[in-house]
Amino acid sequence: QFATPFKDENGEIIGIVEDFRDISDRKKMEEALKESEQKFRMINSAAYDAIIMMDNEGKISYWNKAAEKMFGYKAEEIIGKHLHYTLAPKSFHEAYDKGFSRFKDTGEGTAVGKTLELTAIKKDGTEFPIELSLSSVKIKDKWCAIGIVRDITDRKKAEESLKKYQMKIQQQNIKLKRLDKIKSDFLNVTSHELRTPMSAIKGYVQMILKETLGEITEEQKKALHVVLRNINRLDNLIQDILDISRLESGTMKFIPEETDVKKMVEEVVETMKTHAKEKNITINVEIHGDLPHLVIDRQRIKQVIINIINNAIKFSPYNSVVNVRVKRQQNNVLFEIQDFGKGIPKDKQKKVFDTFYQVDSGLDRKHGGAGLGLAICRGIVLSHGGEIWVESKPLQGSTFKFTLPLQPVQDLESKFREVDIFGLKEREEEDKEEKENDLRKRTYI
Ligand SMILES: Nc1ncnc2c1ncn2[C@@H]1O[C@H](COP(=O)(O)OP(=O)(O)OP(=O)(O)O)[C@@H](O)[C@H]1O
Ligand SMILES: [Mg+2]
Repeated sequence: QFATPFKDENGEIIGIVEDFRDISDRKKMEEALKESEQKFRMINSAAYDAIIMMDNEGKISYWNKAAEKMFGYKAEEIIGKHLHYTLAPKSFHEAYDKGFSRFKDTGEGTAVGKTLELTAIKKDGTEFPIELSLSSVKIKDKWCAIGIVRDITDRKKAEESLKKYQMKIQQQNIKLKRLDKIKSDFLNVTSHELRTPMSAIKGYVQMILKETLGEITEEQKKALHVVLRNINRLDNLIQDILDISRLESGTMKFIPEETDVKKMVEEVVETMKTHAKEKNITINVEIHGDLPHLVIDRQRIKQVIINIINNAIKFSPYNSVVNVRVKRQQNNVLFEIQDFGKGIPKDKQKKVFDTFYQVDSGLDRKHGGAGLGLAICRGIVLSHGGEIWVESKPLQGSTFKFTLPLQPVQDLESKFREVDIFGLKEREEEDKEEKENDLRKRTYI
């Protein structure tokens, strides 16, 4: 075949020409075949998934190492056995019998080309969950099937326990929501109910002080002033709790009105001056340029400025200064309240806006207050579409800043409901980032 006789003109063979090229080509082909077979065998025995082949009669014609391990049959004892009747539970047989002749003729079937979760039987009779990826191939004009089978016992177990956890979390969630509602209602109802008797008490004390109910001694007056001061303190606290519960439940009402910002700020500062005098603190107001009118809830924004100035006075030394600056910026009006008090460390500057948060809880509580003021400010400012933050250095003082947009928020109350008043989403993001960082530490190698 590879040698050609070389003849003279009489037809006598005088030599042979060997075709060396042909031989070397065939050799190369054989080697390539061997190599690819070797690769095939290596891949098949290295695979963690079972690789099983079924012939046109439904019999097993190939069975790799992983299949041996997974099912417990050696290749030599299972090759030639009927695949389905050996490996699939009885409940699957009927459907198989129905579909087989179609597969035999066309290579098509409901499971072909898909990855399905099924159940299989081991040699010792135990059933276990598998994931089967099935494809059909034509060998010598006959349809055969190749199945890749993965044992998903562990995965199923994990899924089941995950499901159980999910259920548990769901139930706990329902419980938490119920508790949350009880808490909100409790806050709302109690603070409401506390305010009513409080205003009666306050009214009568004021009447007695004005001597509408008869003369009282100087001593009695002094005592009643102390009573009144404490009533006011209690009233403010109740008011704050009510506000927090309104902010939290999304039931705070806003009444936006066109407001002269300059006038509003000057009014607020005026009312704060007597309080500042108690510590001989001077409040300076600097208004830069022309301020526009803003459509805002005037009382609520006043409340924000009062809360911040109150803090400034509270956390500043005697004989110091508080500066209130207001200026128009491109898209908003910026309010700044600067004090030269004890300042706030960097890592606490975000937290001071949380409910009930106080930097130095023991000391700050002594000053009076529950840690609600700034949380309320935050809720009101965010609802107005603005931002609020603090810039501060310990012992050098703090500057609280907030903005209000020139363009008023269209629907203050619905904006307010979508605002993340308590910074819960922010916390979630922080948690997520931490988790992602954790993941990044892992590696595939
Ligand atoms: N100007 C400031 N200087 C230093 N620390 C401040 C200043 N303003 C606020 N803080 C810190 O932030 C905390 C939270 O302030 P916030 O106004 O929310 O609560 P509070 O003043 O303690 O109580 P409340 O306002 O409910 O009466 C304060 O307790 C204090 O630790
Ligand atoms: Mg305060």
